[in-house]
Amino acid sequence: MTSPNGHRVAFPPDFLWGAATAAYQIEGGATEGGRTPSIWDTFSRTAGKVKGGDTGDVACDHFHRSADDVKLMAGLGLKSYRFSLSWPRIQPDGRGPANEVGLDFYRRLVDDLLAHGIEPWVTLYHWDLPQALEDAGGWPVRDTAARFAEYAQIAHRALGDRVRHWTTLNEPWCSAFLGYGSGVHAPGRSDGADALRAAHHLMLGHGLAVQAMRADQPDHDLGITVNLYAISPQTDSPADADAARRIDGLANRIFLDPVLRGQYPADVVEDVREVTDFGHVRDGDLEIISTPLSVLGINYYSRYVLSAPDGEPAEPYWRAPSNWPGSETVRFGDRGLPVTDMNWEIDAPGLVEVLERVHREYPAIPIYITENGSAFVDEVVDGQVDDPERVAFFDAHLRACSDAIEAGVPLRGYFAWSLMDNFEWAWGYSKRFGMVYVDYDTQVRIPKTSARWYAEVIRQNGLGGSETSANQRSHSGSGGQERAQ
Ligand code: FCB
Repeated sequence: MTSPNGHRVAFPPDFLWGAATAAYQIEGGATEGGRTPSIWDTFSRTAGKVKGGDTGDVACDHFHRSADDVKLMAGLGLKSYRFSLSWPRIQPDGRGPANEVGLDFYRRLVDDLLAHGIEPWVTLYHWDLPQALEDAGGWPVRDTAARFAEYAQIAHRALGDRVRHWTTLNEPWCSAFLGYGSGVHAPGRSDGADALRAAHHLMLGHGLAVQAMRADQPDHDLGITVNLYAISPQTDSPADADAARRIDGLANRIFLDPVLRGQYPADVVEDVREVTDFGHVRDGDLEIISTPLSVLGINYYSRYVLSAPDGEPAEPYWRAPSNWPGSETVRFGDRGLPVTDMNWEIDAPGLVEVLERVHREYPAIPIYITENGSAFVDEVVDGQVDDPERVAFFDAHLRACSDAIEAGVPLRGYFAWSLMDNFEWAWGYSKRFGMVYVDYDTQVRIPKTSARWYAEVIRQNGLGGSETSANQRSHSGSGGQERAQ
C-alpha cells in the first residue's frame, strides 16, 4: 500500500531524523594525531584498486573542519548524526593502549554535537581495520573478534558518558564478502572460505562487543547495521526461485539469522558445503553472536533480481575465486527501472518489503534506517547544486518508511546517506552521495537542493506539506521515480 505521491505524510512525533557518514570516507588527517594505516589506506594506495588512484588521505578534511561541519548539520536541523570511529586513530596497533589524541578528536566532536542539540550515533567499525591486525590475519582469524571487543570497550568507556547509541559493525557483508571474497574492497583478498570465516568472526566480535558495552552501561542503545536487499526472482521458474533463495541466504539471512535467531540458515550451510565445513564455529559462538540487541540498523539501497546461470561472467561484486559460494550459480538482472549513478535500480517499494519481512520473520526489535541514499552526477551552477533526482529518491523512500510504519513496523528513525559527498570506496571521489556538495580542491561545502528539502522535512516532521511540495514542484521535470506533485 503506497501512499499517493504528494499527499502529506506525517511521521511519529519522536521519529529520529539524521544523516550518516563514515570515518575513512570523510576525515582525512590520515597520518595525524598518532593514527596508523588501516586496510583502506593500504588498499587505496595499491595501484588499480580505487578509481583514479583516489585515497582517503584528505577526503573532506573533516578531521580539521568538524566544528564547521557540525554547524552545517545544525543549520539543517538534524536531530542525530551517525558517524564512525576510526579504529587506528583510537587504538593504533589494533591492540593494547588507547591513543588519547585520537579519542580527544571524538570527544570534541561529540561535545560539539551535543552543544548543538544533535544526538551522536556512533558506529564502531565502518571497514577501517588497523593494518596491523590485517597483517596478523585479519577478520578470517578468530583473534580479530577479541581485538574488536577490546577496542569497543575502550571507545565506549571514553565516550559512553555522552553517547547513548552504539552500532558495532556497519554492513558486515561488505567487510567479509567484498573484502575477502570478491576482493573489490580492502583488504582485497579473494577466497570464499576466508570470506565465510570473516563473516563469522565479524559477528563474534559484534556479540562480544555488545556484551562488554552492556556490562558497562545496561541502558544504552546497542545494535548492528546490516545492508539488506529486496530479493526477486527474474521469472517464476523454479531455477530462478532457487537463485533468489541462494543470494537471499548469502546477502541477508547469513547475518540476520545468527544475530537475531542464534543459528546459521540451514540452506546456506548446505549451499557452501564445498567451501567450508564451518569448523571455525565453536560451541557457544552463536549464543554470543545472538546476544539480545536493543536496535537493528538497516541500510537499504536497492533490490537484487536473480536468475539461473547462463554461462556469462557474474556480476563483479559477487565475482570471486573458484571456491566462491554463489557467483557461478546465479545471474544478476534488473527490472528496467531508472537507476542511480551507481547503476542501482531505484526501488522504494523494496524498502517496504525489507522492513515488513524483518518485522514478520524475526523477533520484534526497534529498527532504524541507518543509511539510504543515492549517487547522481551533480554540477555546480552559479554556486548552487540542484539535485532533483536525489530529492525524488529521498521522497519515495521516506514514503516507503511511512508505509512500513503504518503496516506496524517499529521503525524509529532514518539517516540519509550521506551528509556530504565523500570517498565512495572503490569508486573514489567519482560518485557523489551527499546532500551537501564538497569541492575537493577548496573544501567548500555547498548544501544541495536535497539538503534544503530534507531540512524542511525534518522541520515539518513529514512530507508533502506546502513547502516541501512547492520545493519539489519547482524542480519537476527530470528523472527519478515517484516524484511528489
Ligand atoms: C554503503 C556503505 C556506505 C556508502 C554507501 C553508498 O554500503 O555503508 O559507506 O558507501 O554504501
